[in-house]
Amino acid sequence: MSKIFVDACFGKETSYTPVWMMRQAGRYLPEYMKVREEAGNFLNLCHNPKKACEVTLQPVDIVGVDAAILFSDILVIPNEMGMHLEFIKGEGPNFKNPILNQTDLDNLIEGEKAANKLTYVYEAIKLTRAKLSQDKALIGFTGSPWTLATYMIEGKGTKTYNICKKMMYSNPSLLHNILKKVTNTIKIYMEKQIQAGIDVVQIFDSWAAAIEPGMYDEFSWSYMVEIADFIKEKYPHIPIIMFPKGIPAFLDKVYGNFDVFGVDWSIPMSLAKEKLGTKYVLQGNMEPCRLYSKEATSKCVEKIQETMQGKRHIFNLGHGILPDVPVQNAIHFINECKRVSRK
Ligand code: CP3
Repeated sequence: MSKIFVDACFGKETSYTPVWMMRQAGRYLPEYMKVREEAGNFLNLCHNPKKACEVTLQPVDIVGVDAAILFSDILVIPNEMGMHLEFIKGEGPNFKNPILNQTDLDNLIEGEKAANKLTYVYEAIKLTRAKLSQDKALIGFTGSPWTLATYMIEGKGTKTYNICKKMMYSNPSLLHNILKKVTNTIKIYMEKQIQAGIDVVQIFDSWAAAIEPGMYDEFSWSYMVEIADFIKEKYPHIPIIMFPKGIPAFLDKVYGNFDVFGVDWSIPMSLAKEKLGTKYVLQGNMEPCRLYSKEATSKCVEKIQETMQGKRHIFNLGHGILPDVPVQNAIHFINECKRVSRK
């Protein structure tokens, strides 16, 4: 059975514009909070395929999205490469021993060896694909090498990225070595996600904006393209979505063999369409905080529809949904996207 979401990723005509939300499986859903509590904490939930499958399916059943996104986290990769991941309450992710020199890096495993440790992810994919309705797509994902490296080098989320950037300007070859090792792991990890049953790949470059425009290609985009090339060569039927957040100055330079460009909320959809709309399908891009108001949501959905006209487009938010958004408002967003675009 054809999937409207996969068709739209390849730029085919669909009966309406499909829609999903970044971070759709998460804390704004009381049903998610219940399963997380049963699991004990967030990481236990990631490690438990049955429960991960359950929360992956929740937004499909409750909110009505056209695609499920695998419930996991981008940071399971460095964790399985040998870094010890913890989520500290109120602070977010933390690695106690960040990667600051070549010896630290040499201690990490990579490629097949690291990807083989992520069996709980592949199990969750298999369970989910078996339960998910055949007309819905299952999105697998990874963080970009750069976005993962920011956590590996800083040890946690950062506002200034000063440790990574010190490395970028004073020891670029070490940073490249880290990026290469992560890239080698991601390639195999994505291949195994595909073999387990995902229908689409999304690469999150959430911290793209931390790199000055003239250096973005060298330290992030080229590695994402390398991953896309690897996937496309073996699995051309799997669409690839690139989501680099906050890089308006790079729009003119975007290149590569992928299918969908994820537009974040800081870039006007009309600008993205002008620069990239003929080459790539565009995904996005409502400012997620509009979800606090149904009226503000409807206005934005109508404006995006007016720009995209239901062609070469997938509705989404311009970044992740926040935990205090009322579920009813998320449902309203999904219904509005379907209403305005139905042919
Ligand atoms: O629904 C989905 O999108 C699928 C699951 C998913 C999660 N994280 C679950 C999660 C996905 C795709 C991610 C990706 C992710 N993780 C990114 C890139 C996406 C983006 O939003 O830009 C990043 C940067 C991370 C790293 C990460 N994980 C951080 C910084 C945090 C803490 C954030 C916070 O708001 O507390 C996480 C934890 C996390 N990942 C949660 C969820 C549902 C919250 C955990 C909880 O239940 O307490």
